[in-house]
Amino acid sequence: MSETTFVPGPETARAYRNALGAYGTGVCVVTTQTPRGPIAITVNSFTSVSMAPPLVLWCPGKDSLRYDSFVEAEYFAIHVMGEDQLELAQHFARVGEDFSAVSWQPNREGAPALEQALARFDCRRHACHDAGDHSIVIGEVLQVAAHSGKGLLFKRGQYGGFLEQS
Ligand SMILES: Cc1cc2nc3c(=O)[nH]c(=O)nc-3n(C[C@H](O)[C@H](O)[C@H](O)COP(=O)(O)O)c2cc1C
Repeated sequence: MSETTFVPGPETARAYRNALGAYGTGVCVVTTQTPRGPIAITVNSFTSVSMAPPLVLWCPGKDSLRYDSFVEAEYFAIHVMGEDQLELAQHFARVGEDFSAVSWQPNREGAPALEQALARFDCRRHACHDAGDHSIVIGEVLQVAAHSGKGLLFKRGQYGGFLEQS
């Protein structure tokens, strides 16, 4: 196995992305309600931060057209995608405002709750920190909805499933 060593910068952006892609993640869809209607975005930057109080984070990119809506949102819902929700994840990676083929209803705070997510974390904005070309949005989890099932995973630019090993 060959090893490349480099300092991250404009010339090594591709190699840097590839190295980051070695870290597999789940896939989430974050939703919020806006004066123009519901919006959503597919993300893999979701992380649990604190158990008590229950805090989670995700990172919206400043280049995204949806950035302002999400950093301004007081309430939002983070949905962990199941292995059968690849299409939904791809849909909300492409477009944020098209809910025409999506089953949802407002959660207690009015954020769109998508049907059939593996887990849903209903959040109130706790903090938002500037972080380079992204922001770090921290949410306090107000309520959780959880289902059993397998999760959709993302690694090296590809979606996949979990291979169980004993
Ligand atoms: C697997 C996956 C993970 C992503 N993770 C993030 C993320 O953590 N933060 C983010 O801002 N965009 C993320 N994106 C990109 C957004 O889904 C979306 O494509 C991007 O914000 C373009 O938005 P725009 O059309 O509003 O400009 C991810 C996309 C994919 C496919």
